[in-house]
Amino acid sequence: MNQLQSNMNGDVLFSLRPHTLDDYIGQTEVKQKLKIAIQAAKMRNEPLDHILFAGPPGLGKTTLAFVVAKEMGTNIYVTSGPVLERQGDIAAVLSSLSDGDILFIDEIHRINKAVEEIFYSALEDYKVDIMIGKGPTARSIRIGLRPFTLIGATTRSGLLSSPLRNRFGMTLELQFYSVDELIQIITRASGILKITIEESAAKLIAERSRGTPRIALRLLRRTRDVATVKGKSAIDIDLVEKTMDILEIDELGLDETDRKILKTIIEIYDGGPVGLESLAATLNLETDTLKEVHEPYLLQKGLIVRTSRGRIATDLAYSHLGYSSRIRGGLFDGSLGESQECETQD
Ligand code: ADE
Repeated sequence: MNQLQSNMNGDVLFSLRPHTLDDYIGQTEVKQKLKIAIQAAKMRNEPLDHILFAGPPGLGKTTLAFVVAKEMGTNIYVTSGPVLERQGDIAAVLSSLSDGDILFIDEIHRINKAVEEIFYSALEDYKVDIMIGKGPTARSIRIGLRPFTLIGATTRSGLLSSPLRNRFGMTLELQFYSVDELIQIITRASGILKITIEESAAKLIAERSRGTPRIALRLLRRTRDVATVKGKSAIDIDLVEKTMDILEIDELGLDETDRKILKTIIEIYDGGPVGLESLAATLNLETDTLKEVHEPYLLQKGLIVRTSRGRIATDLAYSHLGYSSRIRGGLFDGSLGESQECETQD
């Protein structure tokens, strides 16, 4: 299984990740749906239906896949969409799975069309048909598979073609975490890392973490570094503030790149609208990074809006960065109406 990483007792055991649904904080609705599906599959002694997790990076898609495997008591094998280049790659992976095993494919929206087609019959009928050879001697062979569960992860379910998306029994959309949930995650992780943290300090880290556990845990580790260097045995609010200053993370949790994005819309594009491609090119950023990493949080915080003609910086973005508000009237006079949430523009 060279494309795969078996991981029942690898880094997961030693990381900060929760191992069970009860230990998993937040995503209440997702957990509830998973609990029912897991219990039902176990009662019927069947493999779990295929699951698609969708949501921005760092919200816990991989963690949940491992939690599901642990709850089901099955093996989990991990790979990612871009690694599976040829039909033969995925046929080898699928045919090595045993009854009830879970195959986790991260960034599943990035598998290519030929590989994707293999999945249609694999997911529906536990069979794969692959072509052997080329030209007149080419022939198709059918390989039977053991009943398995595919867990896919993607940043947005809309990135998958509908034939693939429709073959998942459940699509679960992960949401940004509340400050309270992040405080609980930070407190739990501090316990595992054996660090004392004051509640106000945990709250400040949570508020700067963009609703994302991965960021919260990274900020916790960086604050712990500052504590170590300063010879402090506990994390208090002063230490967190110092760390945020060093990392240049502001009160809304924006980093330098986020602020650069807003500044570019305001200064170069006169507040917008600006298309995503043009904005990415001006910033010298990957379009995908802009769209999947930065934009969801800027939208959620109301710092930008998407319109049919592109992204627009809101009044909040102007005031947050210390600009006087754009003169009202013209484009941004509150008459955006229906186009404000328009999804057609990429
Ligand atoms: N560590 C990272 N994400 C977590 C979560 N959702 N619950 C508990 N611990 C976590």
